Amino acid sequence: MSNQQVTLTQFIIEQQRGLPDASGTFTLLLNNIVTACKQISHRVNCGALIGVLGSAESENVQGEVQKKLDIITNDIMVKALDWSGSLGGMASEEINDPIKIPKQYPKGKYLVLFDPLDGSSNIDINMTVGTIFSILRCREGIEPETEDFLRRGTEQVCAGFVLYGPSTMLVLTTGNGVNGFTLDQDVGEFILTHCNMKIPEESSEFAINMSNQRFWEPPVKRYIDECVAGEDGPRGKNFNMRWVASLVAEVYRILNRGGVFLYPHDLRDPSKPGKLRLMYEANPMAFIIEQAGGLCTTGRERILDLKPNSIHQRVPLILGSKNEVERIIAYHQQD
Ligand code: F6P
Ligand code: MN
Repeated sequence: MSNQQVTLTQFIIEQQRGLPDASGTFTLLLNNIVTACKQISHRVNCGALIGVLGSAESENVQGEVQKKLDIITNDIMVKALDWSGSLGGMASEEINDPIKIPKQYPKGKYLVLFDPLDGSSNIDINMTVGTIFSILRCREGIEPETEDFLRRGTEQVCAGFVLYGPSTMLVLTTGNGVNGFTLDQDVGEFILTHCNMKIPEESSEFAINMSNQRFWEPPVKRYIDECVAGEDGPRGKNFNMRWVASLVAEVYRILNRGGVFLYPHDLRDPSKPGKLRLMYEANPMAFIIEQAGGLCTTGRERILDLKPNSIHQRVPLILGSKNEVERIIAYHQQD
């Protein structure tokens, strides 16, 4: 093994050195998130051996049945972050209201929003899951209310996700490109392995849950019909399809070999404009995808420009290779 390896800590400290007012708080915050993710990685990896699989027989704020690991991973994130003095508050997919910093700890200048275990329907079948996070600045000294979290994705200072797959990987942006780090389990450090990730502009792979086809709107139907028609259709080439049912895994694949992911608006339930959540799924992924040269949209609006109206707001989500997403946006405009 080469001795030229760059650890995540070194990478972040070197990036922060370039910023005039950096105080080290951000480095500490990221370090705490990463520590939590290493603990989660360990639990996910041990699985049935430590009795963490299966349902918790409770529901979260979205009305979804919680897995034991949804609750365990949420607790790990909260406990790793609440004491640090770097946060004004947190918000989690698993908790209805913003999570306050306990009185005994100082409050800091950032807010973190997270999905502690994305793709958790995959957990019992030993498929890839992940943790997604988004970091915003917070006015110092305030006790943040829900409104303080409801900021556009363009205001994110950092977004990332950790993938618990065959390797545990962290993908990160602070607005200066996207980098990937692989956890060296023996030394417990994330090592820079994927520098400046860029999504290929052209691709011939799509990801969508085809079982919802009858509920899609015409622009999405048209796009997928044309892909499925392959060489014989208007696109004149064959497409491949993937669906992992784990957003982290789909985004990671797209970062590496291009393609599009769609969880579009559909007509199943008028109270739900989409399935995925803006604040801790769509926004962080949009920041990463755009930083890697891709696009991320509802079909009609850029995700990062949306003005949020609630912490658990759902949005249609279409992301991936630039040329394909531009085509899908054009189909929506022609609709
Ligand atoms: O967090 C929601 C999520 O699990 C995503 O990770 C994934 O992309 C999607 O839901 C899967 O949806 P479905 O169950 O409809 O396939
Ligand atoms: Mn999720």
